[in-house]
Amino acid sequence: MNTPDPSPGRQAANALCARRAPVYDYELMPVAPLRREAIALLDLQPGQTVLDIGAGTGLSLPGLSAAVGRTGRIVAVEPCDTMMRQAKQRARVDHLPTPIDYLGVAAEDADYASVLGTRRADAAIFFFTHDVLQSEEGLQRAFAALKPGARIVAAGLAWAPPWMPMSNLFVLGAAMHSIVRMDGLDCPWRLLESRMKNAEVERRWLASAYVLKGHV
Ligand SMILES: C[S@@+](CC[C@H](N)C(=O)[O-])C[C@H]1O[C@@H](n2cnc3c(N)ncnc32)[C@H](O)[C@@H]1O
Repeated sequence: MNTPDPSPGRQAANALCARRAPVYDYELMPVAPLRREAIALLDLQPGQTVLDIGAGTGLSLPGLSAAVGRTGRIVAVEPCDTMMRQAKQRARVDHLPTPIDYLGVAAEDADYASVLGTRRADAAIFFFTHDVLQSEEGLQRAFAALKPGARIVAAGLAWAPPWMPMSNLFVLGAAMHSIVRMDGLDCPWRLLESRMKNAEVERRWLASAYVLKGHV
Protein backbone atom coordinates (compact mmCIF):
# COMPACT_ATOMS: atom_id res chain seq x y z
CA MET A 1 0.00 0.00 0.00
CA ASN A 2 1.33 3.47 -0.87
CA THR A 3 1.77 5.88 2.01
CA PRO A 4 0.12 9.22 1.16
CA ASP A 5 2.51 12.17 0.72
CA PRO A 6 2.76 14.25 3.88
CA SER A 7 1.00 17.64 3.82
CA PRO A 8 3.10 20.68 2.81
CA GLY A 9 3.30 21.65 6.50
CA ARG A 10 4.71 18.29 7.46
CA GLN A 11 7.10 18.30 4.51
CA ALA A 12 8.36 21.69 5.71
CA ALA A 13 8.75 20.33 9.26
CA ASN A 14 10.66 17.29 8.00
CA ALA A 15 12.95 19.41 5.84
CA LEU A 16 13.62 21.81 8.73
CA CYS A 17 14.49 18.97 11.10
CA ALA A 18 16.65 17.12 8.62
CA ARG A 19 18.65 20.36 8.19
CA ARG A 20 19.02 20.83 11.93
CA ALA A 21 19.70 17.24 12.92
CA PRO A 22 23.54 17.27 12.54
CA VAL A 23 23.94 20.24 14.92
CA TYR A 24 20.79 19.81 16.96
CA ASP A 25 22.36 18.34 20.10
CA TYR A 26 24.86 21.22 20.34
CA GLU A 27 22.15 23.83 19.83
CA LEU A 28 20.05 22.31 22.59
CA MET A 29 22.84 22.13 25.20
CA PRO A 30 21.73 25.33 26.99
CA VAL A 31 18.26 23.83 27.33
CA ALA A 32 19.49 20.88 29.41
CA PRO A 33 18.46 22.32 32.82
CA LEU A 34 14.91 22.99 31.58
CA ARG A 35 14.77 19.45 30.18
CA ARG A 36 15.82 18.02 33.55
CA GLU A 37 13.16 20.12 35.26
CA ALA A 38 10.47 18.98 32.79
CA ILE A 39 11.35 15.31 33.23
CA ALA A 40 11.35 15.67 37.03
CA LEU A 41 7.90 17.32 36.87
CA LEU A 42 6.54 14.19 35.19
CA ASP A 43 7.09 12.44 38.54
CA LEU A 44 7.66 9.13 36.77
CA GLN A 45 7.89 5.91 38.74
CA PRO A 46 9.72 2.68 37.84
CA GLY A 47 7.59 0.50 35.58
CA GLN A 48 5.56 3.34 34.09
CA THR A 49 4.99 4.11 30.42
CA VAL A 50 5.75 7.56 29.03
CA LEU A 51 5.12 9.12 25.61
CA ASP A 52 7.87 11.38 24.22
CA ILE A 53 6.03 13.21 21.45
CA GLY A 54 8.22 14.99 18.92
CA ALA A 55 11.18 13.11 20.39
CA GLY A 56 13.76 14.65 18.02
CA THR A 57 17.23 13.18 18.46
CA GLY A 58 16.16 11.55 21.71
CA LEU A 59 17.75 14.02 24.12
CA SER A 60 15.03 13.25 26.68
CA LEU A 61 15.39 9.49 26.39
CA PRO A 62 18.21 9.03 28.97
CA GLY A 63 16.31 11.02 31.62
CA LEU A 64 13.01 9.28 30.90
CA SER A 65 14.72 5.91 30.94
CA ALA A 66 16.41 6.63 34.27
CA ALA A 67 12.99 7.43 35.74
CA VAL A 68 10.96 4.47 34.47
CA GLY A 69 13.79 1.89 34.53
CA ARG A 70 14.02 -1.45 32.77
CA THR A 71 10.45 -2.41 33.69
CA GLY A 72 9.02 0.78 32.22
CA ARG A 73 8.43 1.70 28.62
CA ILE A 74 8.94 4.72 26.36
CA VAL A 75 7.05 5.47 23.16
CA ALA A 76 9.01 7.96 21.03
CA VAL A 77 7.07 9.69 18.24
CA GLU A 78 9.18 11.47 15.62
CA PRO A 79 8.37 11.99 11.92
CA CYS A 80 11.84 13.12 10.79
CA ASP A 81 13.92 10.10 9.77
CA THR A 82 17.25 11.80 10.44
CA MET A 83 16.25 12.82 13.96
CA MET A 84 14.78 9.39 14.68
CA ARG A 85 17.95 7.64 13.54
CA GLN A 86 19.94 9.73 16.03
CA ALA A 87 17.43 8.93 18.79
CA LYS A 88 17.82 5.21 18.18
CA GLN A 89 21.58 5.51 18.10
CA ARG A 90 21.57 7.41 21.40
CA ALA A 91 19.51 4.70 23.08
CA ARG A 92 21.90 2.06 21.74
CA VAL A 93 25.14 3.84 22.59
CA ASP A 94 23.91 4.80 26.07
CA HIS A 95 22.69 1.23 26.67
CA LEU A 96 19.34 2.51 27.88
CA PRO A 97 17.69 -0.42 29.66
CA THR A 98 14.09 0.69 29.01
CA PRO A 99 12.22 -0.87 26.09
CA ILE A 100 11.57 1.94 23.58
CA ASP A 101 8.96 1.83 20.83
CA TYR A 102 9.68 4.19 17.95
CA LEU A 103 6.80 5.55 15.91
CA GLY A 104 8.33 7.23 12.86
CA VAL A 105 5.28 9.31 12.02
CA ALA A 106 3.76 12.68 12.87
CA ALA A 107 1.69 12.85 16.06
CA GLU A 108 -1.38 13.21 13.82
CA ASP A 109 -0.72 9.72 12.41
CA ALA A 110 0.59 8.00 15.53
CA ASP A 111 -1.02 4.61 16.15
CA TYR A 112 -0.26 4.13 19.84
CA ALA A 113 -2.35 0.97 20.03
CA SER A 114 0.08 -0.68 17.59
CA VAL A 115 2.71 -0.64 20.34
CA LEU A 116 0.69 -0.36 23.56
CA GLY A 117 -2.21 -2.63 22.65
CA THR A 118 -5.08 -1.89 25.01
CA ARG A 119 -2.77 -0.44 27.68
CA ARG A 120 -2.47 3.29 28.13
CA ALA A 121 0.46 5.47 29.12
CA ASP A 122 1.03 7.09 32.52
CA ALA A 123 2.55 10.32 31.25
CA ALA A 124 3.52 12.37 28.19
CA ILE A 125 6.18 14.98 27.54
CA PHE A 126 6.04 17.63 24.80
CA PHE A 127 9.45 19.26 24.99
CA PHE A 128 9.96 22.10 22.51
CA THR A 129 7.31 20.70 20.18
CA HIS A 130 5.36 23.83 19.30
CA ASP A 131 4.11 22.44 15.97
CA VAL A 132 2.63 19.40 17.70
CA LEU A 133 0.89 21.52 20.31
CA GLN A 134 -0.92 23.47 17.57
CA SER A 135 -2.40 20.25 16.15
CA GLU A 136 -5.85 19.21 17.44
CA GLU A 137 -5.48 15.81 15.83
CA GLY A 138 -2.01 15.16 17.20
CA LEU A 139 -3.18 16.01 20.71
CA GLN A 140 -6.39 14.03 20.36
CA ARG A 141 -4.41 10.90 19.46
CA ALA A 142 -1.97 11.39 22.31
CA PHE A 143 -4.72 11.94 24.87
CA ALA A 144 -6.56 8.82 23.68
CA ALA A 145 -3.38 6.88 24.52
CA LEU A 146 -3.13 8.26 28.07
CA LYS A 147 -4.76 6.96 31.24
CA PRO A 148 -7.25 9.18 33.03
CA GLY A 149 -5.15 11.24 35.45
CA ALA A 150 -1.97 10.76 33.40
CA ARG A 151 0.64 13.46 33.90
CA ILE A 152 1.54 15.90 31.14
CA VAL A 153 4.50 18.23 30.94
CA ALA A 154 5.21 20.64 28.09
CA ALA A 155 7.92 23.26 27.64
CA GLY A 156 8.95 25.57 24.84
CA LEU A 157 9.18 29.07 23.47
CA ALA A 158 6.45 31.68 23.99
CA TRP A 159 6.17 35.40 23.32
CA ALA A 160 7.13 37.44 26.36
CA PRO A 161 5.03 40.49 27.31
CA PRO A 162 5.52 43.42 24.87
CA TRP A 163 7.56 45.38 27.41
CA MET A 164 10.29 42.70 27.18
CA PRO A 165 11.56 43.30 23.60
CA MET A 166 14.90 41.55 24.10
CA SER A 167 13.11 38.38 25.17
CA ASN A 168 10.87 38.63 22.12
CA LEU A 169 13.83 39.13 19.81
CA PHE A 170 15.25 35.92 21.19
CA VAL A 171 11.92 34.11 20.71
CA LEU A 172 11.65 35.39 17.13
CA GLY A 173 15.16 34.24 16.20
CA ALA A 174 14.80 30.85 17.87
CA ALA A 175 11.31 30.23 16.48
CA MET A 176 12.25 31.16 12.90
CA HIS A 177 15.07 28.69 13.16
CA SER A 178 13.16 25.85 14.79
CA ILE A 179 9.42 25.78 14.16
CA VAL A 180 7.11 25.77 11.16
CA ARG A 181 3.97 27.35 12.64
CA MET A 182 4.61 30.81 14.05
CA ASP A 183 0.98 31.15 15.18
CA GLY A 184 0.08 30.30 18.74
CA LEU A 185 3.33 31.57 20.27
CA ASP A 186 1.35 33.95 22.49
CA CYS A 187 -0.11 30.92 24.29
CA PRO A 188 1.43 27.73 22.88
CA TRP A 189 -0.30 25.57 25.48
CA ARG A 190 -3.88 26.73 24.65
CA LEU A 191 -5.09 23.50 22.97
CA LEU A 192 -3.24 21.32 25.45
CA GLU A 193 -4.64 23.15 28.45
CA SER A 194 -8.19 22.90 27.13
CA ARG A 195 -7.92 19.10 27.37
CA MET A 196 -6.40 19.10 30.85
CA LYS A 197 -7.84 19.27 34.34
CA ASN A 198 -5.44 21.47 36.21
CA ALA A 199 -2.69 22.84 34.00
CA GLU A 200 -0.21 25.16 35.70
CA VAL A 201 2.10 27.31 33.58
CA GLU A 202 5.25 29.07 34.74
CA ARG A 203 7.52 31.27 32.68
CA ARG A 204 11.28 30.74 32.35
CA TRP A 205 14.23 32.52 30.65
CA LEU A 206 12.99 36.09 31.16
CA ALA A 207 9.52 35.02 30.01
CA SER A 208 10.73 33.73 26.62
CA ALA A 209 9.96 30.13 27.57
CA TYR A 210 7.33 28.31 29.60
CA VAL A 211 6.85 25.06 31.41
CA LEU A 212 3.41 23.53 31.86
CA LYS A 213 2.42 20.65 34.12
CA GLY A 214 -0.88 19.01 34.91
CA HIS A 215 -3.07 15.98 34.40
CA VAL A 216 -5.35 14.50 31.78
C1 LIG B 1 12.63 21.40 18.44
S1 LIG B 1 12.52 19.69 18.16
C2 LIG B 1 12.39 19.03 19.83
C3 LIG B 1 12.87 17.62 19.91
C4 LIG B 1 12.87 16.99 21.29
N1 LIG B 1 11.58 16.99 21.92
C5 LIG B 1 13.87 17.63 22.20
O1 LIG B 1 13.51 17.89 23.33
O2 LIG B 1 15.01 17.82 21.84
C6 LIG B 1 10.87 19.49 17.58
C7 LIG B 1 10.60 18.08 17.07
O3 LIG B 1 9.22 17.94 16.80
C8 LIG B 1 9.09 17.15 15.63
N2 LIG B 1 7.79 17.40 15.03
C9 LIG B 1 7.43 18.43 14.21
N3 LIG B 1 6.14 18.28 13.83
C10 LIG B 1 5.70 17.12 14.41
C11 LIG B 1 4.47 16.42 14.40
N4 LIG B 1 3.44 16.87 13.71
N5 LIG B 1 4.38 15.27 15.13
C12 LIG B 1 5.43 14.83 15.85
N6 LIG B 1 6.62 15.44 15.89
C13 LIG B 1 6.76 16.57 15.18
C14 LIG B 1 10.24 17.58 14.76
O4 LIG B 1 10.55 16.63 13.76
C15 LIG B 1 11.34 17.79 15.77
O5 LIG B 1 12.12 16.65 15.92
